[in-house]
Amino acid sequence: MHRGAKMTADSSSTLQDIFKAITLNSSESDVEKKIVIPLLLTLGYTSADWQTQVVILQSKLDFLVGQSDSALITTPYLIIEVKAPNKNIAHSVWQINNYMRRAGAVLGLLTNGYDFCILYNYEEKITQIVEYSQATLIHQYKIFHKILSKKTYLHYTATLYKNQQQIRLHFLKLISQTVQQEHMLGLFNKAKTSPTQIQQPSEKEILVPETKEERKSMIITVFNNKGGVGKTTTTINLAAALNKLGKRVLLIDIDAQANLTTGLGIDPLEDVEQQGKKDITHLLLEPRTKLEDVVITKQWGELELHVVPSHIRLGRMETTLNQTVDSDRLLAKKLKKHDYDYVLIDPPPSFGKVNGISLMASSAILIPTQLSAYAIRALEYVLDRTNEVEQLKDEPLPILGIAVSMYDQKSSNYNKSMVVRLFEILEKSGGSNKAELFPESTWIPRLNIVSISQDKGYPLYQGEFDERLASQEKEAAQKVLERYTNLASHLIKITTGE
Ligand SMILES: Nc1ncnc2c1ncn2[C@@H]1O[C@H](COP(=O)(O)OP(=O)(O)O)[C@@H](O)[C@H]1O
Ligand SMILES: [Mg+2]
Repeated sequence: MHRGAKMTADSSSTLQDIFKAITLNSSESDVEKKIVIPLLLTLGYTSADWQTQVVILQSKLDFLVGQSDSALITTPYLIIEVKAPNKNIAHSVWQINNYMRRAGAVLGLLTNGYDFCILYNYEEKITQIVEYSQATLIHQYKIFHKILSKKTYLHYTATLYKNQQQIRLHFLKLISQTVQQEHMLGLFNKAKTSPTQIQQPSEKEILVPETKEERKSMIITVFNNKGGVGKTTTTINLAAALNKLGKRVLLIDIDAQANLTTGLGIDPLEDVEQQGKKDITHLLLEPRTKLEDVVITKQWGELELHVVPSHIRLGRMETTLNQTVDSDRLLAKKLKKHDYDYVLIDPPPSFGKVNGISLMASSAILIPTQLSAYAIRALEYVLDRTNEVEQLKDEPLPILGIAVSMYDQKSSNYNKSMVVRLFEILEKSGGSNKAELFPESTWIPRLNIVSISQDKGYPLYQGEFDERLASQEKEAAQKVLERYTNLASHLIKITTGE
C-alpha cells in the first residue's frame, strides 16, 4: 500500500515522512518523485489521474473535433510546476502563470519541495491563493487538501457536467430555429431564443463538497408512481452493480406484488412463509422485530445481496398501518442502525401509505423512467410528491437524479425529443437544481434479456453463468451490464465523490 489512504490524525507524521525524503541538494526530479507524487496520492489521486511532461498546444493537430474520450469538454484542472530545492519559486511564478493561461487550467501548484504556492485562474487572471512552507503545510493540511483533493476535482467536474447539459439544451433549441421545422420533427417548437443564465457554482460548492460525502450510508427510495417503468428492474440490477463495485447493499421490497422478491429468486410462500421466516410486514408491524430478523442473504458467485422480502398480505394492510401510532416512521425507525453502504427500497406504484413510509425512511430518491411521452408527463407528479414529503419530513429529500430504465436504441430522434420534454418538466418543477437527468452512458436499453433474467429470478450479472442462455442473449446481457455498471459508478460518484 502506498500512502494513498485518507489523511486523518496521522496526516502530519505522514507529511513529515514525505518531506524527509529530500534535502536542499536534491534535484528537480527528486522533488517530483519523492514529494509531488506522494502528495498527489494523499490527495486521493491515482497514477491514472495524472500525466507528466505533456506537450500542450504545440503539437500539430490536423483535426481535433470535440473530445472523443470524454463526456466533458474540459480544460485541465491542475497544473503542477516543480523546481529544484535550491531555486526560489517566486522566480517561476510568471512561468506557471503562463502555462495556466495557455492551457486554461483552473488551479496551479508551484513547488520546490520546500515552498508550496497554489494559484487560481479566473478569466485568465491568475491569483496566488496561498503559500506554504513545509511547516505551515503540515499545520494547514486540511485547507491544502480541501483545495486540491480529488474530491474537490470530482465535484468540480460534476458541476461542469450539469451546466453543460443546460447549455446543450439551449443550444439545441437555438439551432432548431434555423432549421426547417419538419427536419427537426417539430421537436423544439417551444424553444426560447436566448439561453438562460448559466449558474455559476458558488465558492461554497467548490470548496465544501463534503456535505453529501460525509453521510456514511444512503437509503434510497426508487420512486415513480407509474407502474411498469422499470422500477423493480432498476433496483435489482443497480444493487447488483453496486455490490460488484464493492458496496454492501440491502434491498427492501415494500410492494405487495413482491416482484423484487421473486426477481431475486425468492418465493414469498415457499422460501419465506413455509420456513417460518419473516418479511416486510413483520418488520413494519411487530415492534420487536429487527432488521436482521427479516433479511435474507442471496449469493450468486461473488455477488451478494441482502433482501427484505415482501408478501402479498402487505396489500391488505393499509388500514392496519393507518391505525398504527407514528405509522409514517415505522420503517425509518427500523433502519436507524445498519451497516450497509446503500439501502434501496422498491415501493409500489402509487401515492399511498406504503410510499409515504418508504420516503420517510429515505435520505434520497432515485427516479427511474422510460423515455416515453406518458412516463415523462407522469414525472411532474413525482416531483410534486417529493416536495410534499420534504415538507412533512421537515428535512431535505434530494433527488439523486433521473435514470432512464428502458429506451429504444433505434429511435434516437424520438429519444432526443423526449429528453427535451423531460428538461421542460424539470425546469417547470424547480429547475435542474432539483433533479438531473443521468448521463446517456447510464441509460438502459430495452432488451429482452433484461426481462428474461428477472423472470428467471437472478440479477443480470448471473446471466453469464447460465448455460441455458443463448450466446446472443449473453452478448446482450454484457451490453446492458456495462450500462448498469456506469449507473452504479455515477451514483457512487454523486453520493460519495469516489
Ligand atoms: N430494459 C428493459 N428491457 C426489456 N424489458 C424490461 C426492461 N426493464 C424492465 N423490463 C420489463 O418491463 C416490465 C416492467 O418492469 P418493472 O421493473 O417490473 O417495472 P415497475 O417496477 O416499474 O413496475 C417487466 O416485465 C420487466 O422485466
Ligand atoms: Mg415493481
